[in-house]
Amino acid sequence: MVNHKKRRDLTTRSVLIVNFNNDLPELEKALIPLNWECASACDLKQSLRIIEQKNISVAIVIIQAGNELQVLNVVSKLQHTTPDVKWLAITTQYPIPSPYLKKKLATLFIDYYHTPIDWGLFSNSLGHLWGMSKLQIESKKEVREPTLPQELVGCSEPITNLKKDLKKVAIVDNPLLISGETGTGKGLCAQLIHAQSAREKEPFVIVNCGALPSSLIHSELFGHEKGAYTGAERQYIGRIERANNGTLFLDEIGDLPLDLQVNLLNFLDDSSIERLGGNCPIKVNCRIIFASHIDLENAVAEGAFREDLFHRLNILRIHVPSLRDYREDIEMLAQKFLARFAQDDSNLRFTNSALQAMLQYDWPGNVRELKNRVLRAIVMAEQGKITERDLGLKLTNNNMPKATPNRLRTEIDTETLLEALKRNNHNVSAASRQLNISRTTFYRLVKKCNIQW
Ligand SMILES: Nc1ncnc2c1ncn2[C@@H]1O[C@H](COP(=O)(O)OP(=O)(O)OP(=O)(O)O)[C@@H](O)[C@H]1O
Ligand SMILES: [Mg+2]
Repeated sequence: MVNHKKRRDLTTRSVLIVNFNNDLPELEKALIPLNWECASACDLKQSLRIIEQKNISVAIVIIQAGNELQVLNVVSKLQHTTPDVKWLAITTQYPIPSPYLKKKLATLFIDYYHTPIDWGLFSNSLGHLWGMSKLQIESKKEVREPTLPQELVGCSEPITNLKKDLKKVAIVDNPLLISGETGTGKGLCAQLIHAQSAREKEPFVIVNCGALPSSLIHSELFGHEKGAYTGAERQYIGRIERANNGTLFLDEIGDLPLDLQVNLLNFLDDSSIERLGGNCPIKVNCRIIFASHIDLENAVAEGAFREDLFHRLNILRIHVPSLRDYREDIEMLAQKFLARFAQDDSNLRFTNSALQAMLQYDWPGNVRELKNRVLRAIVMAEQGKITERDLGLKLTNNNMPKATPNRLRTEIDTETLLEALKRNNHNVSAASRQLNISRTTFYRLVKKCNIQW
């Protein structure tokens, strides 16, 4: 059954149709036989839910005379919240009646069609957008985020100490282990260390050990020679080699299969690798940063992580604090995210009770969760105010939450996992993507929390 689902994920192309008045009923009828799974929405909230649940990468909007303003407003809000989705417009008016509509068609959409439509051509355009979007999402995973210059926001004692520690470890070349819960900013810290180091102008190569399929991971890390195995039609330079002179960031190192842990240990010992099917060692000079949100000492005790490798990489260590341990920075972080993402709407403000609710909340997903809640709230807000409801939070009468013992953490994890599964129709891939963790990590948390579903 699992295999069947996997195959379906690969071939099904889902498209969101934003259709306010049920116009153009032939649209779905035309697209379904062309291998599109259509999901229709008639307002902003529904659209957002479908994009999240169905992992949408392409969307169509139908623009009719009279609904332009309303429709375009929804599309521009959705583009802020889910920038990876690519949009096609269908307009029932031709020639385009106003300069305003022309400008919006040119800036918000990749292409537009007007009725009557040649559905074969239309499906082709949609297919191109779908392929491009997948390609861009995939390539973003590998390459350093080229977005705004990243900064570690906060001036509490834990964050001030962290900033100092980052500076200290940036000027040396020893392996470094970054620990901390999910969403705390381990990836961001690795980027900042590279940016403050002498290797700053050289590559920063990220490998997410939990996200790579185990059948590919050896080749991805170490590369292979032409003919190394059936299907290896050309030489492939692995990611370790691509990090030469720069920094290699091995994320979720706890997910690296045991057999590859031996190869990695060898690399750490003599700074050389061998491509699969190759017979000469290749020297690679790179700084290595590891990150893990699982407790590696526990993994060693359970036999899932090699003890010798653990000691080899546990030379320098940085722990990134959980957000609930520096609540005094929550407001500053929330305001920064608001300023960054609500550019069009600079009057938008948090209400006092929204700020209060953020302080009370326990943030199991840490800064990533805060960022995502603010992003979502910007879309949901009305009349310039972000309320606790827009953030998906509730204000309680208790003052501050108590410190979280292990049992309570498990309850929080359980709730987060179950909620993600529910939102994604029990599709583990989609749920883990939404939580920004690998499938392997997802399954490990499910096991830890003893979840049956
Ligand atoms: N102190 C901070 N200031 C500003 N942005 C932050 C801060 N901490 C984290 N972020 C942002 O939060 C998001 C999550 O951070 P990141 O991906 O680095 O977390 P992580 O610890 O690597 O998570 P995971 O364990 O799930 O991989 C990123 O967008 C990052 O830029
Ligand atoms: Mg990370």
